[in-house]
Amino acid sequence: MCGIIGVTGNGPVVPRLIDSLKRLEYRGYDSAGVAAMVDGAVERRRAQGKIRNLEAVLAEQPLTASVGIGHTRWATHGAPTTANAHPHKAGRVTLVHNGIIENFAELKAELAAEGHVFESQTDTEVIAHLLDAELNTGRAPLEAFKVTLDRLTGAYALAVLIDGQDDLILGARRGSPLVVGWGEDEMYLGSDALAVGPFTQKISYLEEGDYVAVTRSGAQMFDVTGSPVERAVVQVSASSAMVEKGEYRHFMEKEIHEQPDSVQHTLSEYLDLVTGKAKPQAVDFAALDRIQIVACGTAFYAGQIARYAFEKLAGLPCDVEIASEFRYRSPAVSPRTLAVAVSQSGETADTLASLTWCKAQGLKTAAVVNVHSSSMAREAEVLWPTHAGPEIGVASTKAFTTQLAGLFLLTLVLAKLRGRLTAEQETAYLAELRSLPNKTQKVLALEPQVEAWSQRFANKHHALFLGRGVHYPIALEGALKLKEISYIHAEAYPAGELKHGPLALVDEDMPVVTIAPNDQLIEKLKSNMQEVRARGGELYVFADGDVHIEESAFVHVIRLPGGSNGALSPILHTVTLQMLSYHAALQKGTDVDKPRNLAKSVTVE
Ligand code: G6P
Repeated sequence: MCGIIGVTGNGPVVPRLIDSLKRLEYRGYDSAGVAAMVDGAVERRRAQGKIRNLEAVLAEQPLTASVGIGHTRWATHGAPTTANAHPHKAGRVTLVHNGIIENFAELKAELAAEGHVFESQTDTEVIAHLLDAELNTGRAPLEAFKVTLDRLTGAYALAVLIDGQDDLILGARRGSPLVVGWGEDEMYLGSDALAVGPFTQKISYLEEGDYVAVTRSGAQMFDVTGSPVERAVVQVSASSAMVEKGEYRHFMEKEIHEQPDSVQHTLSEYLDLVTGKAKPQAVDFAALDRIQIVACGTAFYAGQIARYAFEKLAGLPCDVEIASEFRYRSPAVSPRTLAVAVSQSGETADTLASLTWCKAQGLKTAAVVNVHSSSMAREAEVLWPTHAGPEIGVASTKAFTTQLAGLFLLTLVLAKLRGRLTAEQETAYLAELRSLPNKTQKVLALEPQVEAWSQRFANKHHALFLGRGVHYPIALEGALKLKEISYIHAEAYPAGELKHGPLALVDEDMPVVTIAPNDQLIEKLKSNMQEVRARGGELYVFADGDVHIEESAFVHVIRLPGGSNGALSPILHTVTLQMLSYHAALQKGTDVDKPRNLAKSVTVE
């Protein structure tokens, strides 16, 4: 997660870029840089580390201009060095980027074969070379930009300067946020409202696939097809920050949509995106014979899902327990157990107490937490951070998917160390993980279909969620979300267990939400669906793209894009269930972000 800013105005721009970058430092501070147009040619200043280092460089080598871009980096591809700091430059093109270009290796090889010389290890630099090559064919800037964008796979928010274009910043957004800020004879591009906050409160939120040409006098916007579009100008509050809702109605909606970004940020904590390899971890996994996960609420379900992977891929026994139960039952633990607390806040009283208890027993301890300064982060010997950013909605969304992504990567590290993963399997899993932000974005595009379903849930009193295998905890999480924010009673069952009780509840009144991934249990799941239909139940099925399920008046199907989602399936299916409960709650008019009787961080028993 990086922060970007662009300003085209009349006065000296560089101090303003710095001002904005300081507000964006929460998005990363591995390095920072600015570029500005000086007599028709772009000049850069960059520095490793925090913005103050960049300020020191600028004090030595000032830069005076009225058009410029800036970046603060959270390193993904390449070490946090000055050479890898943005802006990146190739020929006439200088640009800053937030996101990950998944096909950068192929593009880089192609460009290198054509004689392009690269000066960084970043994925970003290929975009500059590609665009410069397109300009060299004689294309106009906007056309060259569009052709370049069409060649990129992955996520990006971009701000681009071109030598000789002294009143132009190009911008584009896919999978990473970007806003246009409107000033008086001055215009801005930034990662969010906070970035342009010092200059304007008038914002247009670019939509997925949009690109834009910004000049002092305005902005020309285009959608993903290249057609001109207009995006509404909205007035945001002066203190607009990451803790503001921005273009969204609720924090929960915003947080659902931030998942491509937050998952990507978390992946880059554990994955070296240059080598494609998982990063080593400071735990002697070889000395372990068991994992004990403790957690509450949604984090508990993340632990349940992780157990499948720890046992299947790493062959290590794994227990998962609700912390408020674990702490009071005097569990028998082996001394070679690794105790893992999973928690968004890192403050949940029961989880913290369980962690402390494990530590007192002499166990090795680790904490998967989103708040890195939290009590659990400090208490555990090993901190495994997730990078969801601040999660404000009480119902957890992006914290959950980042926990799943982080825990899955840790499983791969462990499986490899235990000799249970071949190099080919590792490569395949890592490639899957790298496509996760992009696939999540595609699942988010199903929102209109999910919203249409939600209308049928609003007047229901009960719902049943079914899943099998690793998707059973996903069903549990789906039911929890619906309960929490729409106050509709919901239960989740492993579908094979239907006949042992819940089938008695099934009638035409109770929607049965079914998660249907293309895995080895799909045929068995289909039989379970028949059991529901035979009792008059109405099915709402979320299926992997290549699962064959016949639709009818009582069997509704939403298909996830692509074919089978493999190891990523639990994460992608979760996103659909989040959207379902969010829209059901909207229909009911509940307080989505602050559901009755609940709290975000439960620091009491
Ligand atoms: C509360 C929140 C849930 C969360 C749970 C555990 O119940 O409403 O969303 O899953 O606490 O919180 P933690 O911060 O430990 O993940």
